[in-house]
Amino acid sequence: MLVLLVLVLVYHIIIRNGEPINLRNIHEFSREIKQDELQNKVLKKENLLKGVKPIMSANNNIINVKSNVNDVKTIVGVVKTIVNDVPTHVNDSKINVKDVKTRVIDAKTNMNNVQTKAKPQKSNFNIDPPQKYICAIPEGRLGNEMYIFASAYGTARRHGVKLIMNNVAHLKEAFNIDGAYETDWEKCAKVPVIHEEACCRVSKNIFNVSADPTVLVRGYMQSYKYFYQYRAEVRKYLTFKDSVLDEAKDKLRKLLSQRYQGHVVDKRTFIGVHVRRGDYLNAPKIKYGYKVAPKEYLYSAQEYMQKKYSNITYVVCSNDLAWTNKVFKNQHDVITVPMGPAHVDLALLSLMDHMIMTVGTYGFWASWMANGTVTYYKDFTSPGSEFSKGFDKGYLDTFPESWIGL
Ligand SMILES: *[C@@H]1O[C@H](CO)[C@@H](O)[C@H](O)[C@H]1NC(C)=O
Ligand SMILES: *[C@@H]1O[C@H](CO)[C@@H](O)[C@H](O)[C@H]1NC(C)=O
Ligand SMILES: *[C@@H]1O[C@H](CO)[C@@H](O)[C@H](O)[C@H]1NC(C)=O
Ligand SMILES: *[C@@H]1O[C@H](CO)[C@@H](O)[C@H](O)[C@H]1NC(C)=O
Repeated sequence: MLVLLVLVLVYHIIIRNGEPINLRNIHEFSREIKQDELQNKVLKKENLLKGVKPIMSANNNIINVKSNVNDVKTIVGVVKTIVNDVPTHVNDSKINVKDVKTRVIDAKTNMNNVQTKAKPQKSNFNIDPPQKYICAIPEGRLGNEMYIFASAYGTARRHGVKLIMNNVAHLKEAFNIDGAYETDWEKCAKVPVIHEEACCRVSKNIFNVSADPTVLVRGYMQSYKYFYQYRAEVRKYLTFKDSVLDEAKDKLRKLLSQRYQGHVVDKRTFIGVHVRRGDYLNAPKIKYGYKVAPKEYLYSAQEYMQKKYSNITYVVCSNDLAWTNKVFKNQHDVITVPMGPAHVDLALLSLMDHMIMTVGTYGFWASWMANGTVTYYKDFTSPGSEFSKGFDKGYLDTFPESWIGL
């Protein structure tokens, strides 16, 4: 009788629950166990986890709780203890004999399967396996840093591990980012480095990186797809500090009141325009394949917006105000914004209803944050250039489907 009970229990607890479970990490695993009322009564986390090897598969955070031969023995031992300790939850009178036989056969088969599949290996697993991490270093300009953070964060979340970052001063200055990452960089000192395969599209080796052991991901990771699943969390961590937002609002208010001489402006639709030029016109960048948007793009974007919205005020940020002022000369409802700190101007653009971006990651982020209608310049790489080779065909990794390429 005891043997039957053990087998039934083994079947229930290990084999059935041992089917691939979508678990983020061992902590969630133990939380799920805690939530299970029956098991909560009879199992101590320590006992269950002892000798069970969680295998984190390299792909999508599936942990297959499988056991090797030794582990199965240990578990049987654990289950025996449980049965001895608290046998009351199995009500014999409810189990029909035929059912039990079938299930015992199932359980035996499953046990055999587990045993044949299991590779003998040394097992010295602790009750709590050491915590694994994704490590990342935000670098480059603000837009680059935001991508590296957001993509590394999304990758860490997807693999059920935490993020550790170094060099976060800029991001901290601008955003309420505390809580998104840990700072114990020591843990990242000697870990394997995973470089992205190519700039500007999703790299398989990072998207589906194995976070076991802890790894350092390197590259600009410029695709929203790395963090799309977790965009609400990323958004939360990339909300601007109150002081930054206040500064941006003050700046906008002053510009509006200058332009409209104190008249009410709340019936207007605000469309941000970001015109990236400056460094994009440097010879090496052009040779590499970078392009800037011509004025024709800006005019057709305005046309597009004017068909959709009325009473538009355009608010333009650019690192080439001389050129931009020429382009929008004589347009009453275009306000060009004197260049301020990058994060303050980004906060200002994030307040817009819609965005016309040109090229570059800064424009991407302004558009992402404004979260309205977005147009982008679709011919932003020279055909056949090194730069163009970094992107996927059709730029599907770069721009959300709803954005309009012009
Ligand atoms: C076992 O099940 C029977 C019939 O369903 C019930 O009458 C009895 O109270 C149960 N015993 C326990 C210990 O739950
Ligand atoms: C990651 O792995 C999953 C599961 O194997 C696969 O469906 C997906 O296409 C992979 N993603 C990338 C970007 O390679
Ligand atoms: C446009 O502005 C005018 C005058 O400020 C206002 O009366 C009108 O309602 C606005 N139209 C829209 C669609 O907001
Ligand atoms: C954008 O707006 C939609 C609703 O239109 C909302 O569900 C979503 O969370 C917003 N995204 C961001 C990044 O703010």
